[in-house]
Amino acid sequence: MPSLKALRTIDLEQDYHAILIDMRHDRDDSLQSIHYISQQQNKVALIALCRDHAQLQRYKEVIHHLDDYILADHLVDGELPTRITHAIRRRLKEQELLHEQTRLQSLLDNIPDAIFFKDRESRFTKVNKRMQTVYGKAHPSLLGKTDFDLFSEEHAQAAYNDEQQIIRDGQPIVGKLEKETFEDGHFNWVNTTKVPLKDEQGRIIGTMGISRDITELKKAQDTLAHERSLLKTIIEHALAGIFVKDLAGHYLVVNQRHVKYLGAQAEPEVIGKTLYDFFEQSEAARISATDQKIMQSGQSIENLIDYRQRPDGSELWLLTSKVPLRDELGRCIGLVGISLDMTEQKLAERNLKKAIKTLEETKLQLIEAEKLKTVGRLAAGVAHEVKNPLNVVALGAEYLEGQIEGPEEMLEVIQDMRHAIQKANHVIFELLDYSSPHKVTMELGNINEIISQVLALMRHNFNESCITVHEDLSRQIEPVKLDASKMEQVFINLFLNAISVMKKGGSLTVRTRAEQIKSAGDNVSSKLTECFRIGDPVILVEVLDTGSGLNKEAIQKAFDPFYSTKTTGEGTGLGLSVTRSIIEMHHGVMTLQNRTDTQGACVRIWLPAAS
Ligand SMILES: Nc1ncnc2c1ncn2[C@@H]1O[C@H](COP(=O)(O)OP(=O)(O)OP(=O)(O)O)[C@@H](O)[C@H]1O
Ligand SMILES: [Mg+2]
Repeated sequence: MPSLKALRTIDLEQDYHAILIDMRHDRDDSLQSIHYISQQQNKVALIALCRDHAQLQRYKEVIHHLDDYILADHLVDGELPTRITHAIRRRLKEQELLHEQTRLQSLLDNIPDAIFFKDRESRFTKVNKRMQTVYGKAHPSLLGKTDFDLFSEEHAQAAYNDEQQIIRDGQPIVGKLEKETFEDGHFNWVNTTKVPLKDEQGRIIGTMGISRDITELKKAQDTLAHERSLLKTIIEHALAGIFVKDLAGHYLVVNQRHVKYLGAQAEPEVIGKTLYDFFEQSEAARISATDQKIMQSGQSIENLIDYRQRPDGSELWLLTSKVPLRDELGRCIGLVGISLDMTEQKLAERNLKKAIKTLEETKLQLIEAEKLKTVGRLAAGVAHEVKNPLNVVALGAEYLEGQIEGPEEMLEVIQDMRHAIQKANHVIFELLDYSSPHKVTMELGNINEIISQVLALMRHNFNESCITVHEDLSRQIEPVKLDASKMEQVFINLFLNAISVMKKGGSLTVRTRAEQIKSAGDNVSSKLTECFRIGDPVILVEVLDTGSGLNKEAIQKAFDPFYSTKTTGEGTGLGLSVTRSIIEMHHGVMTLQNRTDTQGACVRIWLPAAS
């Protein structure tokens, strides 16, 4: 063995596994060497070689520093190497154990969680630094204390019960959320795990536990939960439909109002579904395309007016805004939408537009009526003034015709004059008729009979123009209250119009039917529903020709007085306006349209059936 001086210069661990100190000669520095080596706390095994037991006794104050001692007296052959090897092994094990303990202690001291060991009576037998500093403020040492010294009775009792249960059944309690309440009322939230503590024989000698303070986390969780509940309340009670969708268009969040917009009953019917589950293919594709655009471009859409049909067929107008939904990194992960039901406003707007249109029309009608009244009065005045002089001219022409015998040309001139006078008389008659006060004499009569009579009367005119007449008169027609002579005039006017557009032949159909007014739909029906109620019994008369039909202008103006497409002198343009005013005197409705089945015009007259 080197001298103490030499020892001090050596890196013991590097160079030796074991040092055998020969003490047989009682050298002075032997003891000092033992002290020195043992202070190094290294892995080098320290073995002393003594002469005998008596000598060893003299060194008993250093025996505990030795890993082994060998008595030269008793040494048998080959024993020395074995003893040294065993001492080295023991030394290494001790060193490892020491390290292990140091590491464990360091862990206990530095871990931010509170760690404690308790005996079977739940008294602290060991606590780490954290436990002592946080919970042991009032106690210099927690050892021997219990939870009852630290916490409120309520919490201490609960913890005690848990520990006793662990001791009884040996089962750990893992990750229990505990509210640690203190006597002064403050509290911590901790997450605690407790396990049974056992001795080498496996007997439970107490418990060991670790507690992590999660008060801040719990506060954050509570705030989050509160905010979530607030948001849920707002979403659920909002007056608008609110929804959230993922990138594939699946509904993630939806409030009750939006559930209704989709025609569903409750939220679970919608979550995870897409538009295709609620709308027909083309409609769903249209809305999805807008959604995709928003998610791809990252641009939101505001106040988009969207029309949908509810499952019951009623209309639904939505004012929708959609914004892309992003994650913490700003990536688009879906969209959020909000939809306001504006069906009522839309319907009100439409009704308003309709009302304004009706108002405009009424205004125009009033102006027109006023104009016509003036024209009528003027016409009556003119007709009255012209009638008498024309009579004088007619009488004069008649007289001259009787007096003159020749020449032939002169007679022809007089004939022409008489024809012209006849035409002028006809115009005057029509003018006076148009402007005369509207008086009607109503009596029960059959419209079919009137039509047949007029057709018979005009048979010659039809034949002349090669027009075939189809009488399709229903037998169901009941007699109605009418002014027969005015009704005759109606059909004369209509048939004359038909003849004038079918000069080169054609076909005229006159049809009568007993009907009931159906629900409104097209323009004609809306006119009808102004005069009749749905379900009212009516007589429908149709006069169909195969003439030229009406152009755009004629459709608009045909009923205007003095509107005529006939050449001057051929017609006054009063026929239809007189006809319609007669129909209106009978509380009926009259329309003139082009036929849809073939070329030609179609006149329809609805008269109230006599009840
Ligand atoms: N059946 C029809 N087919 C095509 N156009 C028609 C028909 N009935 C009327 N019209 C058009 O409506 C115009 C007005 O008709 P209305 O009967 O009021 O006057 P008119 O026939 O021209 O003259 P009047 O009847 O006074 O001799 C006609 O000039 C014609 O252009
Ligand atoms: Mg006419």
